Amino acid sequence: MSLKAKLRKSLLIQRSLMDKQEVESLSQGIMEKLVKVKPFLESKVVMIYLSFKNEVATDKIINWCFKQGKEVVVPYCIVDTKEIIPCKLDPERKNLIKNKYGIWEPSKDSRSPVDIEEIDTIIIPGVGFDKNCNRLGFGGGYYDRFLVKRKKEALAIAICYENQIVEAVPTDSYDIPMDIIVTEESLFYRK
Ligand SMILES: Nc1ncnc2c1ncn2[C@@H]1O[C@H](COP(=O)(O)OP(=O)(O)OP(=O)(O)O)[C@@H](O)[C@H]1O
Ligand SMILES: [Mg+2]
Repeated sequence: MSLKAKLRKSLLIQRSLMDKQEVESLSQGIMEKLVKVKPFLESKVVMIYLSFKNEVATDKIINWCFKQGKEVVVPYCIVDTKEIIPCKLDPERKNLIKNKYGIWEPSKDSRSPVDIEEIDTIIIPGVGFDKNCNRLGFGGGYYDRFLVKRKKEALAIAICYENQIVEAVPTDSYDIPMDIIVTEESLFYRK
């Protein structure tokens, strides 16, 4: 098994052992830190993932964005090409269905793709990170492929629990680092 695969496995086991209450309270702490990040506050169009299992919960962040009058965009995954298509999320969250990974995404007939140039901030999930903003995801390379296409001012912000921060995430040439990582305790900026 590769270094990435080993690290991914152990971090996923650790995360699966967290209980609902811990997920909820740490997610709340992360949101409180995130809403103080100035460029995020100023973003008009925010792309954000729909959390599943024990990932940092995003439902309250999404509600907050709508209340602030922001446009919210969520990923739709094309499994064959491992591509992400950003689609508008309606505030009611109707027309969402579970994809083959068990992740909620806009159903086929309700998909309304957004031009990537419009996106100001991208809130990204992950399995592990290091303090230099390197990211380990699920292994599909979805976000690496997507992030190269973003406009240059667009900010990549990862949200994760402090226990997902490791000494060093192994990286390959195609891995795209985050600009900022927000945990319930800290903020890390890419040097
Ligand atoms: N341009 C590309 N960008 C990223 N990955 C690529 C690219 N082309 C091929 N790949 C392949 O996709 C996989 C990406 O693996 P990696 O471990 O970095 O995924 P990840 O960043 O953890 O995943 P995800 O973003 O889906 O959560 C590798 O097997 C890599 O060889
Ligand atoms: Mg990667």
